[in-house]
Amino acid sequence: MSGLIPKQFIVDLIDRADVVEVVGRRVQLKKAGKEYKACCPFHDEKSPSFTVSPDKGFYHCFGCGQHGNALDFLMQYDHMEFVEAVESLAGLMGVEVPHEEGQSQRPARSYDSLFELIKKVAEFYEAELKKHDAAVDYLKLRGIDGATAKRFGIGYAPSGWSNVLDKFGKSKETIDRLLAVGLIIRKDNGQNYDRFRDRIMFPIRDSRGRMIGFGGRVLLNEEPKYLNSPETVLFHKGRELYGLYEARQALRNIDRLVVVEGYMDVVGLARHGIDFSTATLGTATTDEHLNRLFRVCDEIFFCFDGDRAGRAAAWRALENALPQIREGRQIRFVFLPDGQDPDSYVQEHGAAAFESALDKAMPLSDFLLEELTAQADMNSVDGRARLAELARPLIMKIPPGVFKELLTVRLAESVGLPAHKLESILRTDVASEPRANSKGKTRLRSVPGGLGNPSIVRRAITLLLNHPEAARELDVSQLSGVSKPGCDLLRDLIEMVQSEPNLTTAGLLERWRNDEKGRHLGKLAAVELPELDEFDAGAELLDCIAQLAVGARRDRMTFLIGKQTLKSLTDAERNELRALSQGSAFGG
Ligand code: UTP
Ligand code: MN
Repeated sequence: MSGLIPKQFIVDLIDRADVVEVVGRRVQLKKAGKEYKACCPFHDEKSPSFTVSPDKGFYHCFGCGQHGNALDFLMQYDHMEFVEAVESLAGLMGVEVPHEEGQSQRPARSYDSLFELIKKVAEFYEAELKKHDAAVDYLKLRGIDGATAKRFGIGYAPSGWSNVLDKFGKSKETIDRLLAVGLIIRKDNGQNYDRFRDRIMFPIRDSRGRMIGFGGRVLLNEEPKYLNSPETVLFHKGRELYGLYEARQALRNIDRLVVVEGYMDVVGLARHGIDFSTATLGTATTDEHLNRLFRVCDEIFFCFDGDRAGRAAAWRALENALPQIREGRQIRFVFLPDGQDPDSYVQEHGAAAFESALDKAMPLSDFLLEELTAQADMNSVDGRARLAELARPLIMKIPPGVFKELLTVRLAESVGLPAHKLESILRTDVASEPRANSKGKTRLRSVPGGLGNPSIVRRAITLLLNHPEAARELDVSQLSGVSKPGCDLLRDLIEMVQSEPNLTTAGLLERWRNDEKGRHLGKLAAVELPELDEFDAGAELLDCIAQLAVGARRDRMTFLIGKQTLKSLTDAERNELRALSQGSAFGG
């Protein structure tokens, strides 16, 4: 065991580690909302003030102040050295630690054995399908032919508790790997058994075509209808899209993508020659999904049932999509007749009918205005004011640009105000003093036990560490003239989050471990912020950046005005000052 562990391996490890599992092996944790609580293992206490956040990958004790990510925990609790902690965490996750010999080394490839294992098991399931008539008949009944089944690698997990376990788990290492990828489950008594039994198996591939997990459907009407692989080091539901890899294989150019809800929708559509669909895996559409979708093409359709649940799901997708709107991108919504999903629709009416449903899809702006106007009485002044209120938080999520302006114009028409008036209402309220916004969320500065009154830079860094996703769409260039202490670090953090949009609090801290500039980050990450339903981290952060930018502009103006009174302005500076004084009418 010699040689340096590549830094990239360590940050990957932290990005994939489950802090709840690591801590939970040593400390009895109790679920409390989105977090876990326990009596602190680092100091004596009667009531629990130690919390572990799976989302952040971070633990923190409000009593004694200990905090950190999974590696910190191993170091603090088990008194491990850093390298030892890395080895131990990797072991727990079923991966080998690579060591760099000299400087020219190929990159870490230690997840390969896990990918390889899943592939082998998928091949086993495929072979089993051929041996089980009932499974083949079920697929035929669902209208799936052999070629489509093959394209998607559809298989069958036979009944029995240890088919996969016996065939693939012959040593302790291979059993650990089966556990790590979620193919077997370990009971409290230490015995293992197959997770998937008597189910049609849909392998899930990542963007590079590697199998990372499965969805399994029962043949009869049992519960649960679908069983998915758990979250593992390879498989994150909030990131993966079923069928996207297959779509890219089938089509040379993808100019549109349809997002549907289920495995069978993707497969059923593909059976009818509609190769450009993809499904989220039983979760709402996340930012990460949208990022991946828009990397493939600019035209996205969301296809939902026409019922109430379908419209609610569509609305959630809309809210998540707003920050992603750019010129050239199109998002539209398809609502199928009540009770139909894309699979049943295409089986019944054929591909042409489905394509024409796409042609009639509703643009995002129409859907947005339709839903909002349904919630406000457009015949009364109050109702129209309410519409503006409802629209504000949504419009604030849209990045500046043509779409935002057009939507504001349309909204203004509905409200009966000139567009510039509505715009200035929307704008002034962003910059105004602490108050509750329309969702009933409070501005952070007025939240008791919130952040107190730290510098804006510190406030921004605290927000970003606690909610990295809030920084994804920020415009860093706004900070270009700002020279406040800590601003460099803030800029680096924002750029890091934007280059790796899946980063957690733990992942950020790991990247600044041993970095002089980052030595206070742990403390800021441990600051207790209110729940997200009480405030909007994205809006707060935007507000901080805006304030910093305005402050910098003001400083520059003061400097130039000083120079002007000394009559020593250059022509360029005079123009700059003129531009700044015009700009400041907006920035306040
Ligand atoms: P649906 O219940 O709409 O099923 O679940 P479906 O796609 O129409 O399936 P068929 O046509 O009955 O075979 C949609 C998606 O929700 C997730 C799965 O990802 C599924 O594809 N789901 C559903 C689960 O994860 N577990 C379940 O028990 C049910
Ligand atoms: Mn269905």
